[in-house]
Amino acid sequence: MSINWITPANRLSALPPYVFARLDELKARAREQGLDLIDLGMGNPDGFAPKPVIDAAIASLDEAQNHGYPPFEGTASFRSAIATWYERSYNVKLNPDSEALPLLGSKEGLGHLALAYVNPGDVVLVPSPSYPAHFRGPMIAGGEIYQVKLTAENNWLIDFNTIPEDIARRAKIFYFNYPNNPTTATAPREFFEEMVEFARHYEIILVHDLCYAELAFDGYQPTSLLEIPGAKEIGVEFHTLSKTYNMAGWRVGFVVGNSQIIQGLRTLKTNLDYGIFATIQTAAETALNLPGIYIKNVQDRYQKRRDFLIAGLQELGWNIPKSKATMYLWMPCPVGMNSTDFALDMLQKTGIVVTPGNAFGDAGEGYVRVSLIAECDRLGEALKRLKQAGIRYQPEAVTSQA
Ligand SMILES: Cc1ncc(COP(=O)(O)O)c(C=O)c1O
Repeated sequence: MSINWITPANRLSALPPYVFARLDELKARAREQGLDLIDLGMGNPDGFAPKPVIDAAIASLDEAQNHGYPPFEGTASFRSAIATWYERSYNVKLNPDSEALPLLGSKEGLGHLALAYVNPGDVVLVPSPSYPAHFRGPMIAGGEIYQVKLTAENNWLIDFNTIPEDIARRAKIFYFNYPNNPTTATAPREFFEEMVEFARHYEIILVHDLCYAELAFDGYQPTSLLEIPGAKEIGVEFHTLSKTYNMAGWRVGFVVGNSQIIQGLRTLKTNLDYGIFATIQTAAETALNLPGIYIKNVQDRYQKRRDFLIAGLQELGWNIPKSKATMYLWMPCPVGMNSTDFALDMLQKTGIVVTPGNAFGDAGEGYVRVSLIAECDRLGEALKRLKQAGIRYQPEAVTSQA
């Protein structure tokens, strides 16, 4: 029985339900009915973290000092590993004391950054569709979200001409993310230059989420915001170990960039948490120092899954372009079906879990996101079930012949 005077704060009750929590309920119900689920819903990598990472964590547990409170701002050693890794990857120098801050996963930092910088009523620019933390953090902070609509026609890139002048003038922060979740779009370097120019002109803090920095294929190398001249004066970039290193459960990521912006986040966090378990920082440092062949193997794994699923879906009528990065396919719904209906239909008829595109914002309607988090034999089983259930892509309404 719920008690009527125990009510959450408005900032919480105003939030729309988190779609992954809702999907979890539906999955539980399907499991109860005995369905063998193929869960391609969340971006939750399958398998273990790399062996050297696990070994480093185990060894670190033998040191008594690692069992106490870690330093608020992260260990000096992990921050220095971040700066070295960043310079090696993007040829940009960072001050490990002021321009790098370890986080309890990038989602934590993305959300808290909004609490550190957004006052109630401040305008925050967020693409639609986008990763939910990009708009939920600012919503919790009381910000006014302006959704910058992405479209297939514009290759899911932000079109600056669609942002009204008065909104741009009032905006405090612009969140963005390429390679993009959920659309899988990638952005050329010139796009990043345009973004920096726009933000500098309108005096907006840029927040780039480079979650899929290493999950890139066919020789493609994603651009990092801080590579762009002038970006470090106005922006920060979030990175995570969750995807590249199969460390989603370890909760470790970091933010790099402008020291003033990072300082606000650090100040907020010293009031809320004690930072990351030192053992996990040691493990993360080990991951950043792994030889290039590790990354190559990860890329090959996801590329193989991408190619396999795209080829299989082609036989079912889908013509999905090969994305150059991320761990997803962005799949249009058959004509006449919306995202939620299509995802539910698929779950009920086949036991395959995908995420409805509208979970990422209104502009994700008409698509579902498929995570490449199963081996090809399991993806093959998914394709077989789709075929058996008669689920195909219908680009146009089927009209009956007279
Ligand atoms: C764009 C994007 N940013 C951040 C995250 C969350 O990363 P973390 O595990 O570091 O919190 C995700 C997870 O799917 C993501 O897609």
